[in-house]
Amino acid sequence: MENRRSIIIDTDPGIDDAVAIAMCLFSDKLKIELITTVAGNVDIDKTTDNILKLLKFYKKDIKVAKGSSVPLIRKPIHAKNVHGESGMDGYDFGEVDYSPLLSENAVEAMYKKIMEINNKITILAIGPLTNVALLLKVYPEVKEKIEEIVLMGGSLSRGNMGVLSEFNIHCDPDAAKIVFNSGVNLAIAPLDVGLKALVFPEDSAKIKAMNKSGEMIYSLFKHYRSFGLRNGLKMYDSCAVAYLLKPEMFEIVDTFVDVEICGEYAVGATIIDLKNYLKREANARVCIDINQEMFKDWLLESLNKCNID
Ligand code: BDR
Ligand code: CA
Repeated sequence: MENRRSIIIDTDPGIDDAVAIAMCLFSDKLKIELITTVAGNVDIDKTTDNILKLLKFYKKDIKVAKGSSVPLIRKPIHAKNVHGESGMDGYDFGEVDYSPLLSENAVEAMYKKIMEINNKITILAIGPLTNVALLLKVYPEVKEKIEEIVLMGGSLSRGNMGVLSEFNIHCDPDAAKIVFNSGVNLAIAPLDVGLKALVFPEDSAKIKAMNKSGEMIYSLFKHYRSFGLRNGLKMYDSCAVAYLLKPEMFEIVDTFVDVEICGEYAVGATIIDLKNYLKREANARVCIDINQEMFKDWLLESLNKCNID
């Protein structure tokens, strides 16, 4: 138990979030201290309901705190076109159990948890960075107690929301700027590795056959519109979990990262300075490539452990 890495998950489930979270819930290397929700794939009430549905389904006793309903200064953007109206369409989870939901908001709950535990904590951020940015600004004393912020976001190349911007960063670029410039250790799994973290039809058939959890995930996959089952479903958020649990599957570089927050076309574009044009000190570890076979084997093995039968 003591050897497990303490983490807070900040998330906007989201079908690929659900897969990533399931693997964290059943990992013997992680201790989930708290889960916080943020508006992103769908609105904050839905992302909060979705995590509560997952915790009930998996029978896991973990506290949840509801976070920001809007980005720091911009209008909310959602991705119902990808994750469905509820954010986790495709499975009937029954009534939501609100008992794990704290009365404090995400920022307060994160602050308390980080200060209360003796060891350092890792934040796994797999949605827009609004809550994390607020935490770092309101309570800068937490920085010393954060081991690392591991996030899925940004892009080395093109975007999936804007021409050059990835969804999580595009939703709240101002929050991303605060996080990138916070001085806290950062690890980033950008879009480019997510686009290679694929689940093909033969893999989803294996997942379905695994157990009750596999059946649930398969039902979500049938509603996950990330370029369709046949071309491979993109497990973006699982890449951040993979960095935590099996980093050897990635090629990783230390480099300078920032984000464009004003401009005509490229707001939300991440500046990942792999060629050191800017002569700035590295502030992040960035996964620039992934071993696809290793990812797939790890994903199937990890999902097989999500057993509640
Ligand atoms: C990211 O955007 C969301 O739709 C996914 O859950 C993931 O966190 C990929 O760009
Ligand atoms: Ca997400």
